[in-house]
Amino acid sequence: MDKILVLDDERSLCELLKVVFKKEGYEVLTTPSPKKAIEITKKDDIDVLVSDIKLPEMSGMEVLKRLRKARPELPVVMITAYGTIKEAVEALKMGAYDYIIKPFDIEELKVVVAKAIENKKLQDENIRLRKELKEKYSFENMIGKSKKMVEIYSLIEKIAPTETTVLITGESGTGKEMAARAIHYLSPRRDKPFVTINCGALPESLLESELFGHVKGSFTGAVSDKKGMFEVADKGTLFLDEVGEMSPMTQVKLLRALQERKIRRVGGTEEIPVDVRIIAATNQDLKKKIADGSFREDLYYRLNVLSLEMPPLRERKEDIPLLVNHFLQKYCQKLGRKLKRVAPEVYAIFETYHWPGNIRELENVIERVVAIEERETITRDCLPEELLNPERREIELEIKPGFKLNETIEAITRDYVQKALEMSRGKLKEAAEVLGINYRSIRYLVDKFALKSDRDEIVEGEKIKVEGE
Ligand SMILES: Nc1ncnc2c1ncn2[C@@H]1O[C@H](COP(=O)(O)OP(=O)(O)OP(=O)(O)O)[C@@H](O)[C@H]1O
Ligand SMILES: [Mg+2]
Repeated sequence: MDKILVLDDERSLCELLKVVFKKEGYEVLTTPSPKKAIEITKKDDIDVLVSDIKLPEMSGMEVLKRLRKARPELPVVMITAYGTIKEAVEALKMGAYDYIIKPFDIEELKVVVAKAIENKKLQDENIRLRKELKEKYSFENMIGKSKKMVEIYSLIEKIAPTETTVLITGESGTGKEMAARAIHYLSPRRDKPFVTINCGALPESLLESELFGHVKGSFTGAVSDKKGMFEVADKGTLFLDEVGEMSPMTQVKLLRALQERKIRRVGGTEEIPVDVRIIAATNQDLKKKIADGSFREDLYYRLNVLSLEMPPLRERKEDIPLLVNHFLQKYCQKLGRKLKRVAPEVYAIFETYHWPGNIRELENVIERVVAIEERETITRDCLPEELLNPERREIELEIKPGFKLNETIEAITRDYVQKALEMSRGKLKEAAEVLGINYRSIRYLVDKFALKSDRDEIVEGEKIKVEGE
């Protein structure tokens, strides 16, 4: 049973909350005394504290401050009167989970309390999960317990012990390299090297010499014999990242190496046997590349013996809170900051954003916020613009002396309507659709701005009819 502690000097409110939350299946403790409340949290395993801001003896803010030190993982929900919202916001910054304004709707408080507890459980779960994963699977720091990720883990577990070549696909930042590492470290080759080579980052000739090595004098700059990554990775795993970027020539050589399990250094004649497991990754559509002739089909089938498709973050949004917690811990620790909290409003934004850069993008957002934000709680105003306003990021706002908002909006509206009419060659219905407004609105706007449209013709036609009668 989850346990709520209510701290309020208003007896009737305490009684009410006790009844309401008991009915919801919680265990409820109440006290009017801040000191008592702090004592209780020390001894009892409380899951959430609901506290008034205005209290005798000690203010709710002071209670919050002390609890943040003594019980940093305990979520605190503040109750505030209408006039003290400023204080409530201050409380958020000090690490309160959320606040609720008096007089409040009891349903609203139920939701906030349930969310606070859920959030706390997530954090506990995160710690437990990481420990368990580390011990059981050594999946390094792969985080996520969505259905899609659980499927990925079990696939990785199945794939890892085999010798089979694996092709990992997925959008940029979805964790392809992480998955490749997990496969290696769960495989019998784990004590041998894991070697990564980015096929997109090097020009053709360099990539070949990186992959296969070269012999002294084979080209300018080849001042001595050099081992390629195939040899470096011997008995281990070779990770060919961005394999879709490889030139046709190199594709041929790679294919030969995979088929014969032997390589020849650039400029050399000796065939060197190699024992490597290949994992390749790409964020490109290789089927498409095969169709347009830029990727060899035979190589594709060699690489894609087993495939692993990393899901984009937007398809496993339920993992966002876990990931956020994980990156917060990572960067707060790295930058020597106290662990920050995330306001519910931020989760709401994360939930709706489409995350084109996937986990890497989420990680970057958290790293940046931790680095520049002084306050303890991350609120929406800490987030970068593209998250708050995803479609609008191109519009530049400029305010000069003499600026008039209404006129500016009118001018912009007129320009958009005009543009839509051009696109639809004057057809009102189509223009309305393009703009996402209804027919009535566009008719009004066209008249207001005296713009030309197919309506002119209709009106004229009517006129003619009237005159002809
Ligand atoms: N499941 C996960 N849990 C925690 N962190 C993750 C997870 N997946 C990816 N990351 C982190 O996100 C970042 C991107 O991951 P990774 O480099 O593996 O992605 P990628 O698919 O190879 O991206 P790209 O296509 O851009 O090379 C890394 O910093 C990685 O640590
Ligand atoms: Mg990568």
